[in-house]
Amino acid sequence: MLSLSQVSKSYKMKDGMYQAVDTVSLEVGAGNIHGIIGASGAGKSTLLRMINLLERPDQGTVTVDGQLLTEMPDKQLRKERQKIGMIFQQFNLVNNMTVSRNVSIPLELAGLTKSERMKRVKECLSFVGLEDKVEQYPAQLSGGQRQRVAIARALANSPKLLLCDEPTSSLDPETTAEILDVLKHVNASFGVTVVIITHEMDVVKSICRHVSVMERGRIIDSFSRDEGEFRPAAGSFGSYRDQIFSKAGEAHV
Ligand SMILES: Nc1ncnc2c1ncn2[C@@H]1O[C@H](COP(=O)(O)OP(=O)(O)OP(=O)(O)O)[C@@H](O)[C@H]1O
Ligand SMILES: [Mg+2]
Repeated sequence: MLSLSQVSKSYKMKDGMYQAVDTVSLEVGAGNIHGIIGASGAGKSTLLRMINLLERPDQGTVTVDGQLLTEMPDKQLRKERQKIGMIFQQFNLVNNMTVSRNVSIPLELAGLTKSERMKRVKECLSFVGLEDKVEQYPAQLSGGQRQRVAIARALANSPKLLLCDEPTSSLDPETTAEILDVLKHVNASFGVTVVIITHEMDVVKSICRHVSVMERGRIIDSFSRDEGEFRPAAGSFGSYRDQIFSKAGEAHV
């Protein structure tokens, strides 16, 4: 569904170039929930932003749903991007717009008529359980409710892929569990493939089927959940291993 091949990104710094992502390849199958973990500064957000080309790789290719995004003209890329939703730690809602207007924005960009938009906004808000908050403003909502609005907005154009950059990092454990349930529900109901960056091992254990570990711009390890348990991919031994497995081969999920 998603294929990154040898993607790299470096940034110009005062004292030379800094390699944020270094020749990373990653395959995520359709309908998967794939976690990306790793220390701060490892390059996780940069990698995620390259999936929808918010950040253009210096080299390498990005293929989403059979489409080679890195070779696409801008106009076509804007259209393909509508199939990719994104949510963030800080929700990134527009504060001076109501909940319904926030969810409506991507639909306006996609050119839907007002009545089509109203119908879709209602569907998406009811999916995340917020149909009674339509006319509220983000400041009037709790963190968990704001993230639900962000999820509704990300779902508006019926994406095939949902990119999540630490979506629960600013939420308490109970609200985190609720938001993870919503994401599981999105995955199960619509078959949306999910890529999720997290610092929280509980998030990994709760929803991820595959996990990649990043360190200094590279993927250094990967795990997959096999028949309900996490198992290491062949030859993978990283510092996160002990946190995911209580003993070799035994997962505490
Ligand atoms: N636009 C930019 N300009 C310069 N350097 C950048 C830019 N974006 C990221 N970097 C650098 O690239 C490295 C990786 O950043 P990135 O945000 O991808 O890390 P991360 O793994 O998401 O970290 P965190 O867990 O703290 O969010 C960092 O050292 C960061 O300072
Ligand atoms: Mg980050």
